[in-house]
Amino acid sequence: MIEDQIVSKTIDFVKEKLAGAEGGHDWFHIQRVYNNAKLISKEEKVDLFVVSIGALLHDIADSKFHDGDESVGPKVALEFLQGLHVQKEVIDHVIAIIENISFKGGNIIQKFRSPELDVIQDADRLDAIGAVGIARCFNYGGFKNRAIYDPDIKPNLNMSKEEYKSSTAPTINHFYEKLLLLKDRMNTQTGKKLALQRHAYMEGFLEQFYMEWEGEL
Ligand code: NI
Repeated sequence: MIEDQIVSKTIDFVKEKLAGAEGGHDWFHIQRVYNNAKLISKEEKVDLFVVSIGALLHDIADSKFHDGDESVGPKVALEFLQGLHVQKEVIDHVIAIIENISFKGGNIIQKFRSPELDVIQDADRLDAIGAVGIARCFNYGGFKNRAIYDPDIKPNLNMSKEEYKSSTAPTINHFYEKLLLLKDRMNTQTGKKLALQRHAYMEGFLEQFYMEWEGEL
């Protein structure tokens, strides 16, 4: 099967698989990441086929929707790609991307890196910040029935991977525990540039939020 056909079959598969998914991790999240990954790729030396397939499958079975099980996503992707007879090297690379893309909190060291993963990771991180990032963050918080903000519960910047996964803290804390850290973790020049603007937007949002909360506006 030619690469374009594999990409289009992957799009169909992901759309079907994510039907009914939480609003921040649905097909539209994948589509934004896929589009941003292609945009960032213009300035990078990468295999565009691996970037495309990796971006499309990166959240195929996100562990936070599978009781923390990180093996489901790679397994689903592996079976799907084997079914299309995709080359073994491509499959292995895509699986490594899925296994290593996500932010685990704290100071967890990422085991695998490649230019293709760098690009997809930046695209995924961009979707976690800025106006879309804010919308996704509160949508997920609502999905988990978390408080919006509680001044008595302070952000925790030194969580273990387990604590990060099981956190029930208010959604505003997630800005400090993840979203505001992302601009300094971008891999590519394009990613860094786009992140700065989105980061500034979030800082403005928080400033306004606290002023309204305190009745100063
Ligand atoms: Ni994602």
